[in-house]
Amino acid sequence: MCGIVGYCGPKNATGILLDGLKRLEYRGYDSAGIAVQNAGRVDVAKRTGKIQDLRSVVPPSFAGNCGIGHTRWATHGGVTDANAHPHSDASGKIAVVHNGIIENYVQLKARLSSEGFVFASETDSEVLAHLIAYHYDGDLEKAVRATLAQVKGTYGIAAMHADEVGRIVGARNGSPLVVGVGDGEMLLASDVTAMIAHTKQVVYMEDGEIVTMTRDGFSITDLKDRKLDKKVDSVTWDLDEIEKEGFACFMEKEIFEQPETIARTLSGRLDPEYATGKLGGLNMTSRELLGVRRIKIVAAGTSWHAGLVGAYLIESLARIPASAELSSELRYRNSVVEQDTLYFAVTQSGETADTLYAMRELKRKGARVLGICNVVGSTIARESDGGVYTHAGPEIAVASTKAFTSQLAVFYSFALLMARMRDMSVSAGARYVKGLQAVPELVRGVLKQRDLIQTIAKKYSRARDFLFLGRGLEYPVALEGALKLKEISYIHAEGYSAGEIKHGPIALINEETPSIFLVPDDSLREKVISNMKEIKARRGPIIAFCCEGDDEVAAIADDTVTLPKTDELFYPFLMVVPLQLFAYFCALELGRDVDQPRNLAKSVTVE
Ligand code: AGP
Repeated sequence: MCGIVGYCGPKNATGILLDGLKRLEYRGYDSAGIAVQNAGRVDVAKRTGKIQDLRSVVPPSFAGNCGIGHTRWATHGGVTDANAHPHSDASGKIAVVHNGIIENYVQLKARLSSEGFVFASETDSEVLAHLIAYHYDGDLEKAVRATLAQVKGTYGIAAMHADEVGRIVGARNGSPLVVGVGDGEMLLASDVTAMIAHTKQVVYMEDGEIVTMTRDGFSITDLKDRKLDKKVDSVTWDLDEIEKEGFACFMEKEIFEQPETIARTLSGRLDPEYATGKLGGLNMTSRELLGVRRIKIVAAGTSWHAGLVGAYLIESLARIPASAELSSELRYRNSVVEQDTLYFAVTQSGETADTLYAMRELKRKGARVLGICNVVGSTIARESDGGVYTHAGPEIAVASTKAFTSQLAVFYSFALLMARMRDMSVSAGARYVKGLQAVPELVRGVLKQRDLIQTIAKKYSRARDFLFLGRGLEYPVALEGALKLKEISYIHAEGYSAGEIKHGPIALINEETPSIFLVPDDSLREKVISNMKEIKARRGPIIAFCCEGDDEVAAIADDTVTLPKTDELFYPFLMVVPLQLFAYFCALELGRDVDQPRNLAKSVTVE
């Protein structure tokens, strides 16, 4: 979604802002702009389209040392140059960029208009520029503070005034903002990726905080102007992790990273000696974990699919009732919170609004909510009662891949921990640990099938609709496969439990609608084969993902991709990777923008 970057220091701000915005592209956007202080004025350039389009309209005269920039993902008002940020007041001395939604902007706009303020855009954000102007008496921070007191909604903002040279004021409420502390320079961004080229020293802002920065330093206060002491954190990853490193796009790179990322997630989380899981960050004693009677998982999209696998595993291995629910549903449902229920909020970004607000609602009701997050220092990571970082490294492609398998790895470790505290024997635990540790190498083997998967993708990429079918642990994987294909190729795809097709979806089957079947060598294999025959009887083309040597499945399917055999619990890892590749190659074949698919944003920070 929208992104913010700000810079003040000795260098020319323009290039730094444009490069920072380029790094934020992965979040999804439709227009962009920058504002740079320049000899007593603020120069603004903004336009719809990509950052290279913006670059082409920024004149060389944009030469100041302090500026702010923004990528916009339209919510209020269409995709137009006027609606792009930064927004300015009538004098042109103030520039503001804003992420989030100003809920009472209609009332504020009406009041300001009646006092003669003239609006140039249809956005909610523009009211901020005029309100700051209304309150401004020579002190930008004071004017921002007075403005925020009138505003309802969510925001991450950065503002500048032409008369306050070298100063940026930022504020956060419900939309992330990070301060970067450089050597003689300061940065501000909605996301660390925009500043990592300049500094790894960062301060994560909390809701209700205002920052004022100059090249010499920063101060953070709360809305009542009380000074706050903030910790400076170090970012633990490097710039090369957000480079493509020879791959055609980030999604491809991230798919191929999975042997390493899964291994990294598991590293230190398995205890072979006692054949159990080790998850220190849960902040729970063994006795507290033993007291857990139910587990509920909340998440959105791909993270929800990981949660579905997690719930299945926890229930079958640890014999604890477990379920996964969409956070967008839970947050508006008056759900029952019981004393001995443990909750997980699962999220790659740690900023998804639905999941964040669901978590806050649960916590208000007294629930203990643990986070499973990828982005270190993200809001959900900080607000949860404990949890586990997935350590998959920055995921740049909008379509989530490596974060999913790392979320699975966390659930596999947690299910082991809980199972070993209950029914699972040491020997069964030891077999499980061995099987799990072998997963990264098996995934490496699966990735070698890329050429075959590309050939199959080419053959089917013109299909209009797809069904993805699996049962048991493979059912959520089928959902994930369908989501991946939809997201990046724009082909309509539905994931179903293979057992469910006869209850309706089979009506869609004809010669032109391919079904993708996930058929591991597990206890449900025979049942899935029966479902395949039902499709074949109606002349539906079938692509099967099954185990090496499964001639029976290969004989029914039109095309087959074989995978190595493993314990039936671990197939979700092996099944999802070829589905990611299939979606990727279909999208490539159709000439789609794989990393930044239309209409989508990486972290969905609005409702
Ligand atoms: C995944 O490919 C999607 N882009 C999307 O469904 C995503 O998983 C969802 O928005 C949740 O994001 P989160 O994991 O950052 O909370």
